[in-house]
Amino acid sequence: MVKHHLSDLRGCFADTAAYEAALAQDDPLVYTVASVTPADGDGDLHCGVGLIRPGKIGGEYFMTRGHLHSWRAAAEFYIGLSGEGVMLLEEEATGESRLVELRPNSVVYVPGHTAHRTINVGRTPLTYLGVYPAKAGHDYAAIAKNNFRCVAVERNGKPEMIERNDLLASKGT
Ligand SMILES: [Fe+2]
Repeated sequence: MVKHHLSDLRGCFADTAAYEAALAQDDPLVYTVASVTPADGDGDLHCGVGLIRPGKIGGEYFMTRGHLHSWRAAAEFYIGLSGEGVMLLEEEATGESRLVELRPNSVVYVPGHTAHRTINVGRTPLTYLGVYPAKAGHDYAAIAKNNFRCVAVERNGKPEMIERNDLLASKGT
């Protein structure tokens, strides 16, 4: 199981001042991923079980770093297991973004060439299963460099997708 603490998420949250202030207090566990990789032949599948703890930094919910697949054409599906989540999907070439609910016993299909980030918008742990081609691979560097164009924040008690730049402008940073 790979554990990701708040300190591993540097650069993910738009409000860097809130991030640094939170990190100065504590470095909590934010999410874990347990991967199952039985074989890696052309026709094989891998899967991962993710758990994201509830929490927020500067109005943004606790989330995964997010990634593209190294083999860009590789799609993936996620199945919600428990808790309330959303997935932020961003088409790599166009930057077109959408927020999709991830709920227990529901499936989210992530097409190829699409960056994806999973976000806990509830008050309990969010757990989910992701299934992808064994040869998909994970490219975290592209996201670390450019980040997602949009963020998910709570507005009137519900998650809403807004442009990262608009969030920064609203905070005067
Ligand atoms: Fe993926």
